[in-house]
Amino acid sequence: MCGIVGYIGQKEKKEILLDGLQELEYRGYDSAGIAVIENKHLKNFKAVGRLQNLRDKTDSYTSSGFGVSIGHTRWATHGKPTELNAHPHRGEYSFVVHNGIIENYQELKTELQKEGVKFLSQTDTETIVHLFEKNYNATSNAWESFSKTIEKLEGAYATLLITEAEAETIFFAKNGSPMLIGFNGDDVYFASSDTPIIGKATEVYYLEDGEYGYTKDGKVMLFNADGEKSFTKQTLATDKAMAQKDGYRFFMEKEIYEQTQVMNDTMMGRVLESKIDFEELDANLLENISNIKICACGTSYHSALTGSYLLERIAKIPCQVEIASEFRYKEPLLRDDTLFITISQSGETADTLEALKMANRAGLKSLSICNVDNSSIVRESDAAILTRAGIEKGVASTKAFATQTMVLWMLTLYVAQVKKTITPELLKEELDAMRHTPKALLVTDKLHTKLNRLSKRYLHGHGFFFIGRDLFFPLALEGALKLKEISYLHAEGYPSGEMKHGPIALADSELFTVALMPKSLHYEKIKSNVEELSARDATILAISPEPFELADDFIQTIYGTHPMLEFFEMMVVTQILALEISIRLGNDVDMPRNLAKSVTVE
Ligand code: F6R
Repeated sequence: MCGIVGYIGQKEKKEILLDGLQELEYRGYDSAGIAVIENKHLKNFKAVGRLQNLRDKTDSYTSSGFGVSIGHTRWATHGKPTELNAHPHRGEYSFVVHNGIIENYQELKTELQKEGVKFLSQTDTETIVHLFEKNYNATSNAWESFSKTIEKLEGAYATLLITEAEAETIFFAKNGSPMLIGFNGDDVYFASSDTPIIGKATEVYYLEDGEYGYTKDGKVMLFNADGEKSFTKQTLATDKAMAQKDGYRFFMEKEIYEQTQVMNDTMMGRVLESKIDFEELDANLLENISNIKICACGTSYHSALTGSYLLERIAKIPCQVEIASEFRYKEPLLRDDTLFITISQSGETADTLEALKMANRAGLKSLSICNVDNSSIVRESDAAILTRAGIEKGVASTKAFATQTMVLWMLTLYVAQVKKTITPELLKEELDAMRHTPKALLVTDKLHTKLNRLSKRYLHGHGFFFIGRDLFFPLALEGALKLKEISYLHAEGYPSGEMKHGPIALADSELFTVALMPKSLHYEKIKSNVEELSARDATILAISPEPFELADDFIQTIYGTHPMLEFFEMMVVTQILALEISIRLGNDVDMPRNLAKSVTVE
């Protein structure tokens, strides 16, 4: 999740930028950079890794007097996390930072390259600065050149540009990615969220989509498609911790709401019109591979289980899933026609890492699905697919699980394409459904309010069973894990068809059953399983697009056409249910007792 800061004024700029970027660290990043123009001279520093690396590089530099400045933390999307790909990106005499994605960048880049422009990075962002300079070289008018540049951009962006051609101005534009302007006397600040400017600016204006403009001499000129625009500033909040949570009560809650947005990042550049493309995978990764084994722990194990259903059903490749801590000591028989996949949010989980090392020693090809680039698991693997969830602060994993599952769905289609085990019709159907996922992850006020009200009936009892079949069995496991992690209530995930083989003995009105009843997958089968429980007086909370008259509580979902859309929609319901129960019980949702975010011990 990239971050932007900017400042124009007399104050020392390096510290303002670095402090501002530090406030954005919690969003996650893999490189950072700053650019300052003072006395018409440009200074630029970039570093890969922690912000401290950038601090070290800029140690002997301080700015003095009036100047303009921009800074950025980058979370790699287009191109690897290298210094060249870090922002600010340069042209001949200008610098730009950008969050979001320029969808038509390839087209713009090719046009500029034909005209002899040399690109240094693999990013979409660099196009902005070259386009600006091309316009400026033709007009010698910086504002006109910037507005013409913005007109050409398609996609989502929040961007700041500074140039030696007009060294006392910062140009800005926003469409689809957040950006705000902070004010304090003649000082003007920019940032992609409140936290970098809290304590510095006193007033703020939150830019709206389609707005762009420039700031000079302490004034901000704002425009949109209708021309120049007036705007009203508001008082800036002073509570940083609150601002980091973007107004949500807990990071976990924020992360649940973020899933719809984050999923676009996960799919970006990978879900194409008629195929899946992973530019990070070598064409020969699947050569001589006729079997897949996935190893992971906890929530990541649940995404692995979901993936195994998809890989076998759609890609027609045998797939086994193992809990990493078990795999390590079972003396597994490993065959070299097996692709060994590890899944880990952190990339540092000791059991998963050790399982991977075992597979590597046995000579297997390895692929990791991970949220943290350069983590131990990524470095140890032959290939890696990053989930691009952004940093996850809540200890109970939500958006990491959603993006892992999405990557496995995409990987399934990729394997099916390579192995030619999917018809063009089915591939198209899957891709169409996939593109709908961000919508299925939207949390409506109505849903959240309903779950909040209903949660008060589930604070006692002698336990929960989350039940589902097929793909919805791993989701039941994950729903139960979420609940137990943050509510400390006992919860189990179970295949609904298995209840009659023992656990049904527990059924009474104090046994709460959360039934995942998708319409698009075995509806009638799971319905009879739930009926059996209802007949024994279990309390049923049913989640389904189909009204279910035996339910004591009912959450009606919307997507009944594709199992994965139902999966993601029901996942959100289980996450919010756990959240609301935990809040009612007065627990610390983000830091549940006895748990750590990254388990680096055996
Ligand atoms: C649950 C949770 C854990 C992790 C597990 C593996 O909410 O977060 O179960 O999934 O500890 O961690 P990673 O994915 O970092 O390997």
